[in-house]
This record gives sequence, structure tokens and C-alpha cells, in this order.
Amino acid sequence: MHVWQISSFGIDSLEFVERPTPAPGPGEVLVAVRAISLNFRDLMMVKGLYNPHLHLPRIPCSDGAGEVLSVGTGVTAWKPGDRVAGIFMQNWLDGPLTPAKAKGALGGDIDGMLATHVILKASGLVAVPQHLSFQEAATLPCAAVTAWNALAAADLKPGATVLIQGTGGVSIFALQFARLKGLRVLGVSSSDEKLKRAAKMGLDAGFNYRNNPDWDRWALGETGGEGVDLVIEVGGADTLARSLKAIRTGGTIAQIGVLSGAATSFSIPSILHKVARIHGIYVGSRQDFIEMNRAISLVGMRPVGEEFRWSQAREVLRRMEEASHFGKLVLTVA
Ligand SMILES: NC(=O)c1ccc[n+]([C@@H]2O[C@H](COP(=O)([O-])OP(=O)(O)OC[C@H]3O[C@@H](n4cnc5c(N)ncnc54)[C@H](OP(=O)(O)O)[C@@H]3O)[C@@H](O)[C@H]2O)c1
Repeated sequence: MHVWQISSFGIDSLEFVERPTPAPGPGEVLVAVRAISLNFRDLMMVKGLYNPHLHLPRIPCSDGAGEVLSVGTGVTAWKPGDRVAGIFMQNWLDGPLTPAKAKGALGGDIDGMLATHVILKASGLVAVPQHLSFQEAATLPCAAVTAWNALAAADLKPGATVLIQGTGGVSIFALQFARLKGLRVLGVSSSDEKLKRAAKMGLDAGFNYRNNPDWDRWALGETGGEGVDLVIEVGGADTLARSLKAIRTGGTIAQIGVLSGAATSFSIPSILHKVARIHGIYVGSRQDFIEMNRAISLVGMRPVGEEFRWSQAREVLRRMEEASHFGKLVLTVA
């Protein structure tokens, strides 16, 4: 088998190597990976910014989809030919997150999916929606499950307003799921072109934060001065204070990302005066993934992204670094 591995940090240091193809042990499954999608976390991981103490060498990337090749003894849930995707945290199957369940994230605690073959526990897989290609299915494990749970962070009725930040993987899935729920979606982006593309997918109104950083005022204006019901917060340091201004009294912030940095200072009373709920999201469980797939299958939803060849792993990481993409970045395994 072939893998891309982090042997030392940096995009240029990502190494393409051959390893012996392993056989599945008891309770394990050997998967031929057909496609992998990238998350911002993978870029951070490769650059050594996510965990400078990462155990090396490490195969990056949490998200991939493929075909079961063989199963170990005791595995009855899967058979050769099944189309599957790995779950982000291999030990978080159901229920609330615990420290034990949080251990075992693919492409971090353990080797990830940027490989032609992977061995995963039988419980660390889900079946992928039938109407999706491997490339589409590979986008689901992290960004889609995160967006799915972010939208569940507030009890929103159809007609409520949600605000998305940027047009990356999580935010575009949030747009798609919000439309499924009959929600009004406002979006902020660095690019008018990306906003136009999002509008074609159902974005109700967009604002370019590059021209004018005061998107929180714009969001208030768009909601008659009241504020939005939910913010899908991926910006972090530079956006959290504005998100607090942009929500309505009693509104929710689904705190997901740290694109602009992980530490900031802001006025604490703004939380209490707004009676705000800041709800942390850390992807989700296997059960969340299964429930999300059921909805995706029911409505025939298709993820949005750009496809690259397996050999272009370094180029794709650079593309993510430039933030010029829209939706997901996907690699097809040769
Ligand atoms: N907590 C979790 O479970 C979880 C799960 C998944 C991701 N995340 C985190 O969520 C964030 C987004 O991840 P992703 O994979 O969706 O990233 P991504 O695909 O790389 O999307 C990034 C996009 O966000 C926009 N953006 C960049 N800086 C911004 C800023 N300061 N303010 C507003 N928008 C900004 C840009 O879009 P425009 O050019 O359109 O503005 C950029 O293309 C990352 O921090 C990631 O680590 C967390």
C-alpha cells in the first residue's frame, strides 16, 4: 500500500511512502480508500500547529471513503464490497462525549485516511449514502457531521435565521442543512464570487467582510435589529465578539473553529446581557453520522467541492492554506 505521511512538519515535508498492506485482525476491517477530503485541521496537523507533539510518522486526514476489502474474525457487520467511511473519533459511537471517547481521532491520535488502504475497527465505520460517489462520501465524516450538530445546537423552528462564516467545508454543509430545515441563511465571506455561488445554493443574503468588517451590524440590519438565532462560528479570535453582537437576545453560538486564532479577549457582560448560549461542537458521534446520512439519503443531498488527484496532496494542502476553495477539497486515490 501507499501512504502520505508526516515525518516532519511542513507541507513540503509530506512524504509519499510504501508500506506493507496489513491484514485485518479480530474485529477489524481492511478498507481500500477511494477518496479523501481535507479539513482545516489536517492542514494544521501537517504544519505542526495542531499538535506540535504529534507522534511521528503519522498518516494525516480524518476523512475518507472506500470499499471493504476483507474483514477479520468476529466481524459480521461488514462484508467485502461494502461502501464505507471512517468515523472521526473511532471511540465515540453514541451518547455524550467523554474524555475516553475523544481519544482515537483519525489523522491525529491514530493514523488517518491519506492512504490507499486502512485498517479500522468494525465499529469505526458507517455505510455511506448510496447516491453518493466515493468522492462525495469522503467529505462527510468531519465537516458535515460538525455542521449537522451545529444546527442542532439551537432549537430552531423553520423561518429562524442562521449565519454562516466563510464558504469552507463546515459552512457550506451548514448552509445545505439549514435549507433542509427551512431556515433563513445569512452568510459572510471574503469574496463576492463565493457569495454568488452560495446564493445559488440558497443563501438568502451575503456580506463581504473583506470590504467592510462590520458584518455584525449588517446581520442586525438583516433581522430588523433583532439579531440572528444561531451563528455557525468558525472564525474564532476575530469573530467571536462580533458573533455575540450579531445574535438575538437568547441566541446561540455554535463554537466550532479558530480560523483567525484560538485566543481573544472580549467583554464578558456581552454574554450575559444577551443571555447567550455558547455551545461547543466537537464533530459528533457515529450515531450522529448515521442519522445525518439518513437525512442526506432521504433528500438526495450532494456535497459540494473540488476534486484533485491523489498525487496532488501537497497542492491541495496549499490550496486550503490560500482559502481560495469553496466547500470541500477532495483527493481521488489512483
Ligand atoms: N470543532 C469541530 O469539531 C470542528 C470540525 C470541523 C472544523 N473545525 C474548525 O472549523 C474551522 C473551519 O473548518 P473548515 O474545514 O470548514 O475550513 P475551510 O474549509 O478551510 O474553510 C475556511 C473558510 O473560512 C473562511 N474564513 C477564513 N478566515 C475567516 C475569518 N477570519 N472569518 C470568517 N471566515 C473566514 C474562508 O472562506 P471565505 O473566503 O468565503 O471567507 C475560508 O475559505 C477550522 O478552524 C476548523 O479547525 C472544527
